[in-house]
Amino acid sequence: RKTKAGDAVASRQKQLEASSQGPENLLTTNQGVVLPDNHNSLKAGLRGPSLLEDFILREKITHFDHERIPERVVHARGAAAHGYFELTRPLVEYTKADFLQEVGSRTPVFVRFSTVVGSRGSADTVRDVRGFAVKFYTREGNYDLVGNNIPVFFIQDAMKFPDLVHAIKAEPHNEMPQAASAHDTFWDFVSLMPESAHMLMWVMSDRALPRSYRMMEGFGVHTFRLVNARGVSHFVKFHWRPKLGKHGLAWDEAQKIAGKDPDFHRRDLWDAIERGDFPEWELGLQLIDEDRAGRLGFDLLDPTKLVPEEVVPITTVGRLVLNRNPDNFFAETEQVAFHPGHVVPGIDFTADPLLQGRLFSYTDTQLSRLGGANFHELPINRGVCPFHNFQRDGMHRMLINKGRVAYEPNTLGNGSEFRVDGGEQGFQSYPEALESPKIRRRSPSFDDHFSQATLFWNSQSAAEKEHIIAGYQFELSKVETPAIRQRVVDNLAHVDMRLARKVAEPLGIAVPDPKAAAGRSGFREAPATKALVESAP
Ligand code: HEM
Repeated sequence: RKTKAGDAVASRQKQLEASSQGPENLLTTNQGVVLPDNHNSLKAGLRGPSLLEDFILREKITHFDHERIPERVVHARGAAAHGYFELTRPLVEYTKADFLQEVGSRTPVFVRFSTVVGSRGSADTVRDVRGFAVKFYTREGNYDLVGNNIPVFFIQDAMKFPDLVHAIKAEPHNEMPQAASAHDTFWDFVSLMPESAHMLMWVMSDRALPRSYRMMEGFGVHTFRLVNARGVSHFVKFHWRPKLGKHGLAWDEAQKIAGKDPDFHRRDLWDAIERGDFPEWELGLQLIDEDRAGRLGFDLLDPTKLVPEEVVPITTVGRLVLNRNPDNFFAETEQVAFHPGHVVPGIDFTADPLLQGRLFSYTDTQLSRLGGANFHELPINRGVCPFHNFQRDGMHRMLINKGRVAYEPNTLGNGSEFRVDGGEQGFQSYPEALESPKIRRRSPSFDDHFSQATLFWNSQSAAEKEHIIAGYQFELSKVETPAIRQRVVDNLAHVDMRLARKVAEPLGIAVPDPKAAAGRSGFREAPATKALVESAP
């Protein structure tokens, strides 16, 4: 199964080329019949009505009528590129994943960047989270690292995701605004969900206004597991760090660019690759053993928390290079189907309740977005390794499965060809011991919503703090309901009184009383994570 470094990348490219249509100068119907004329329909006389018999016109119009597919329910607007991931540090002691074993090995990738909220035609430079989704075409199957450019998330449990998205997307009665936030429904929801405090600090910061996709970090957000050949597991946090450094736009720049060139980020990525200026990221891991995890002072399963680098440093293990633009936006960028549940042996999940919900959501949504159960056969979604199973038929089936046997066990087919491997190669779920009983509640270890928001605020420079304050002021100036504005500012008092005051005063919002704020549940004067960072060696 092993090939030399780089061969995998070349063979992936060949595989994609094989499924593209070659240049032909003779136009035909989809059935291969040569067209007599591509400008005129068949009519009853020169000035007469068109004839239903005109199968050439009907085929052309029918196909056109069905050109659109539903856009993604979130992350609808994106831009993508091909490239490779090269391992620079072997990870044998942490994971058995084949593509993470040999230094120098290259794995082909397809990476899609996106905004979250706007529709497919919205502007690139709006204030929003950015998606950073990487599909690794490994020899053991596709592995997708479906991340964002912010290391934490708004909510702790997948149960709240539809509510979050209904609140953050354009309002349903008039489909405005296309940009994230800056409207009552968004601030109404997040002000009632204090767990969003940390994420909101990032979203109001320059991180939500990247200068370029090439100058943006990426994060796996959730804690995942790496499992080695001996079955030993480590928790892991994934980080992509751009070689060009992190850069943001100023808010007024972002707004002007949105008007002048809504494709600003898309064009920037495309042009850089066309001129051979290939964007590059380092892959960094925070590796945490089970013992350490219990002593962090916060819960690794809580996706509103990050692991401060001062507590667990980042180890660089590889680099990602994007060196080829897609040939066709629809076939590749639009039809690619990422899924956090696409893992390979040696990479596994944790019980993070947001991640667990995501594991259901992606295939489910793609069944309707990509029209049936066979979208894994689309060229962009096909793995580089062969796949065999007895799943059959369905809409848009492209494979021609041969023979009469589509079940297992069997004696009528080739039993040895279709075997399962319970040994080294087969995916073994990490045998995590589970707690009982069933319970529809959150762990109290998820309760501290403000410490890391304060940690983030304290980590910012004076200029960055001014940008955050201005961000909140702009947003709240668009919120029409006074009670919502007040709740946002009251929540900010839990993060930092000075911040709350600076946001509130110019807008005429009542400044919260620090004593009253301290009395409210959830308020923490001395953030646990901050203390932890300060005491770290
Ligand atoms: C896209 C659901 C949280 C990153 C999507 C899509 C859905 C979805 C339905 C559209 C997929 C498609 O049509 O192909 C959810 C749910 C979440 C959740 C239910 C929480 C319960 C997150 C989080 C992250 C994330 C925490 C970041 C770590 C992405 C990205 C895409 C995406 C990057 C776009 C993938 C692409 O470029 O095609 N999500 N999501 N999502 N999601 Fe999530």
